[in-house]
Amino acid sequence: MKDQAQKLRELINRRNRSTKRTCSAKVVAITSGKGGVGKTNVALNLAIEFNASGKKVIILDGDLGLANIEVLLGTMPKYNLSDVIFGRKIITDIITEGPNDVKFISGGSGIGELTRLTEIQIKNFAQNLNLLDKIVDIIIIDTGAGISDTVMTFLSIADEVILVTTPEPTAITDAYALLKVFSDKVKGNDINIKLVVNRVRDEREGHRVYEKIKKVTDKFLNINMENIGSLPDDENLEKSVRRQQAVIVRYPKSDVSKALKNVSEKILDIKGDVNSNKGLKMFIEIVKNKVNLTKK
Ligand SMILES: Nc1ncnc2c1ncn2[C@@H]1O[C@H](COP(=O)(O)OP(=O)(O)OP(=O)(O)O)[C@@H](O)[C@H]1O
Ligand SMILES: [Mg+2]
Repeated sequence: MKDQAQKLRELINRRNRSTKRTCSAKVVAITSGKGGVGKTNVALNLAIEFNASGKKVIILDGDLGLANIEVLLGTMPKYNLSDVIFGRKIITDIITEGPNDVKFISGGSGIGELTRLTEIQIKNFAQNLNLLDKIVDIIIIDTGAGISDTVMTFLSIADEVILVTTPEPTAITDAYALLKVFSDKVKGNDINIKLVVNRVRDEREGHRVYEKIKKVTDKFLNINMENIGSLPDDENLEKSVRRQQAVIVRYPKSDVSKALKNVSEKILDIKGDVNSNKGLKMFIEIVKNKVNLTKK
């Protein structure tokens, strides 16, 4: 019986032969300081919009040990990321297909912090990401909330970091705390963050939140903040969550769906790094340095 590594090598070789595709997938991380601000809903609806515009998309549930996307979709995955990290499966085996063509990888329990994995486990992960990189255009990582090393690892490998907050003071403070920790971890590098303010009363409120955060980041952190839109507080989103459907599918004409479409267009419009291979390169760097992100 072939071992997983051999199977993976064969698949990568076959892919390389059968496709002229040389560019890498774009890695988009959706993150937040505070929990419950709407990351998973943003990730899911963006995935559907990206799919609709012809991109091959996969969502990686980066909130290891907790179920996010699968609950929103009411789908039970058979395998999860721990099967890859512990060498039992390869990445193409653990992709779950939900309704509306949404493909996702469930975050596995028992993995713990990514930065505490053994060298072989990180290698398994990196090699498998390499394959994923060859078969999709966009990898959306729905990170857990907060400032754990795992979240920081995912943010470091992302081409685009989308920070979600609500106008609540606690959410804004936690968003700032995340930016501070992230900018300390990747000192010296320019950081670009795209902000999405969720659950606003109107656009003006979203803009005020953006200005508030930008004022502090401009003053104290090496971060370029960009506002890519706000999403209204909309009961249609709650209704669609209860029905385990994406709001953009269930209520496509609702205000929140229109706003989500605008945000998705903004992300797809970002030029310059579509062919980036920062994600994988970064991950391999992290493998090599195993993992200087843990240094405090
Ligand atoms: N724009 C919105 N309008 C109304 N309700 C919303 C909106 N966005 C989010 N919610 C509510 O917030 C809940 C949490 O959303 P979601 O699960 O996407 O957050 P999360 O950031 O992924 O949470 P966690 O940190 O626990 O993973 C939703 O189930 C919904 O009830
Ligand atoms: Mg979530």
